[in-house]
Amino acid sequence: MKIIAPSVLSADFGNLQRDIEMLNRSEAEWIHVDVMDGVFVPNISFGFPVMEPLKKYATKPLDVHLMIVHPEKYVERFCDAGAWSVGFHLEAVEDPLPILNLIKAKGVRTCLTINPDIDVHRLDPYLDKVDMVLLMSVFAGFGGQRFIPETMDKLRYVHSEIARRGLKTLVEIDGGVNIDNASVLFEAGADVLVAGSAVFKAADPENTIHQMLQ
Ligand code: DX5
Ligand code: ZN
Repeated sequence: MKIIAPSVLSADFGNLQRDIEMLNRSEAEWIHVDVMDGVFVPNISFGFPVMEPLKKYATKPLDVHLMIVHPEKYVERFCDAGAWSVGFHLEAVEDPLPILNLIKAKGVRTCLTINPDIDVHRLDPYLDKVDMVLLMSVFAGFGGQRFIPETMDKLRYVHSEIARRGLKTLVEIDGGVNIDNASVLFEAGADVLVAGSAVFKAADPENTIHQMLQ
């Protein structure tokens, strides 16, 4: 699978409807929604009020990435707010399973995420219990950072382990993705690439999305 999921974190919030309509026209299949609480990560982005215009204008699935402590308190509200998938960080919780079950009970797809400093093998017990894993290729918190090359080894491992077990779990990469590294990431087994600044800071965002899929 080859999906581009532009992150609205890098959109122009004064022109959010315009930017969402651009994504609707583009070849992006999903829209990535970065929620930061200022506790799990040293930055605050947005929360439920911004889900409303996203849900209202987007014609594409909303892929919600929670960078928050206590995701168990909020995952159901994000499901109710129209998320197509809800992901949270493995290192933010003691036991992800009950939280995954809250999301599944809402009929929403699940994603487990790890930051670059978390051992990729910590995902092993959950590969068959989630719809997707998200490997951060920058430290969660800010758009516009440089891709961390060590992510490639983790990606190859997770991709091969999913294939070895015959699972359908998707692999998503988030952070520092651009026109130059997109094809290498897809070749290494990424199914979904998140791209924030590479899309929204481009002179021609729609064409940039197109180029990433080449
Ligand atoms: C980082 C977020 C990313 C971010 C990606 O904390 O999870 O989704 O918006 O931004 P770029 O593509 O600019 O690295
Ligand atoms: Zn993200």
